[in-house]
Amino acid sequence: MVKLGVNVDHVATVRQARGTVEPDPVTAAALAELAGADSIVVHLREDRRHIQERDVEVLRRTIKSRLNLEMAATDEMVGIALRILPDSVTLVPEKRQELTTEGGLDVQLHRRHLTQQIGLLRQGGVRVSLFVDPEVDQIKASHRTGAESIEIHTGAYCDAANSEVRASELAKIEHAIRVGHKLNLSVNAGHGLNYWNIQDVVALGGIEEFNIGHSIISRAILVGMERAVREMATLVRG
Ligand code: PXP
Repeated sequence: MVKLGVNVDHVATVRQARGTVEPDPVTAAALAELAGADSIVVHLREDRRHIQERDVEVLRRTIKSRLNLEMAATDEMVGIALRILPDSVTLVPEKRQELTTEGGLDVQLHRRHLTQQIGLLRQGGVRVSLFVDPEVDQIKASHRTGAESIEIHTGAYCDAANSEVRASELAKIEHAIRVGHKLNLSVNAGHGLNYWNIQDVVALGGIEEFNIGHSIISRAILVGMERAVREMATLVRG
């Protein structure tokens, strides 16, 4: 069955807006699990704009599903991951000024550095996934780093201005899934997915897990976490 990873970063965004203790992403994660989330995802950013180290530590001790830590491939972050030991790490590019992750990793350009960091994480027993655009060369380079999985960046599909661009971005994702499978990588997907655009990606088949944050938390503010997660889980599982 296709899995749903729920990213709770934006619960922390609301908390940080007031520098207080609520709402707590740890509570949101527990509710997401009760509603059927297969994993909990958090992005510990270098600037700590939403998720804090304390959140990752408490989630590690409290969640019952799997913890997927998104992070940049820096020495600081690899050190934190090896101390907290999430079930998996998803390596993403990170720029300080961006509103959200703006694109996939350039694995071809940074292959040597990524291979080193992935080696350390894997020695620590942490599975590693690389967040990449749906481009064949990046997926082939990902395979050569020793990562077990890729997460296909669905942002260009989600942001498509018209139906032709959307169809062509969807075709790129479909091809990327096939290339990933040929290389024995597990293939996940995420970024920008919502209740209206997810079904066409689900229909492609071959995605093991979708990682979704902003749209679920946005709906949760209005209808509650459990209902928002349950509604997305229904779409993801077809
Ligand atoms: N996957 C990755 C690698 C991401 O960086 C993000 C954003 O943190 C997501 C998935 C979730 O994206 P969204 O919040 O747009 O659902």
